[in-house]
Amino acid sequence: MSGQTIALVTGANKGIGYEIAVGLGALGWSVGVGARNDELREAAVQKLRAAGADAFGVPIDVTDDASVAAAARLLEERSGRLDVLVNNAAVTGGMAQTPTTADLAAVRTAVDTNVIGVIRVTNALLTLLRRSASPRIVNMSSSVGSLSRQTAPGGETGPISLAYAPSKTFLNAVTVQYAKELHDTNILINAGCPGYCATDLNGFRGVRTPEQGAAIAIRLATLPDDGPTGGFFDDEGVVPW
Ligand SMILES: NC(=O)c1ccc[n+]([C@@H]2O[C@H](COP(=O)([O-])OP(=O)(O)OC[C@H]3O[C@@H](n4cnc5c(N)ncnc54)[C@H](OP(=O)(O)O)[C@@H]3O)[C@@H](O)[C@H]2O)c1
Repeated sequence: MSGQTIALVTGANKGIGYEIAVGLGALGWSVGVGARNDELREAAVQKLRAAGADAFGVPIDVTDDASVAAAARLLEERSGRLDVLVNNAAVTGGMAQTPTTADLAAVRTAVDTNVIGVIRVTNALLTLLRRSASPRIVNMSSSVGSLSRQTAPGGETGPISLAYAPSKTFLNAVTVQYAKELHDTNILINAGCPGYCATDLNGFRGVRTPEQGAAIAIRLATLPDDGPTGGFFDDEGVVPW
């Protein structure tokens, strides 16, 4: 087995996921560019390689059992282990999202991708992660999922959002449950918030760059062995649940 650190970033063809791949590639890591669209994935891999990164494509639709199983097989055959998994892929499910007019399909899509997708991918890759000396799992969450911030007097966590924000609250809860089960292993699993970044997800209205958003994922991907697990962090530190 190679001594090079091997990572997979889901939804790495654009936005923050792509910049996470750039950042991990700059560390000299071998970076799997997880993406569901063949052309976009290949374009991202080529761009990363042109910039000097050791990037390879991993076809993956996080909502699809067969696709995720095939991604696990690809990694098994290519490297026999995985050191870092960044669960970055997500959708909003579309806006607007007022509870009283809820589009159940939008809620289902957001939860299926942002929560079930993370569970599906994590569990499919756990055997490979367990073979790493220092496995790390990073779940890209959002402070809009923070119930503390949503309910704080004068708290501002964006527009009313029935599907997207609760899906991130759910993801945070899922992250804690994994950390509890895996507490006696060397796997560190944390949730990260990139801040409000200009990407397709929000019609490029964000005020931070995707590169800035990637920084927290890179920090959580490179935690030392005595680093935290089961936490929620942004560039400023701990984000309240
Ligand atoms: N942007 C922000 O301000 C912000 C703030 C807080 C948290 N976040 C979080 O940061 C992460 C990255 O967001 P972003 O802003 O970079 O979004 P983005 O530009 O819309 O990128 C999302 C990525 O997820 C992929 N994806 C969606 N559904 C997928 C599926 N079923 N299978 C595989 N890939 C799928 C997309 O692929 P396609 O290109 O094929 O659609 C794309 O690569 C997300 O978890 C998001 O919730 C973002």
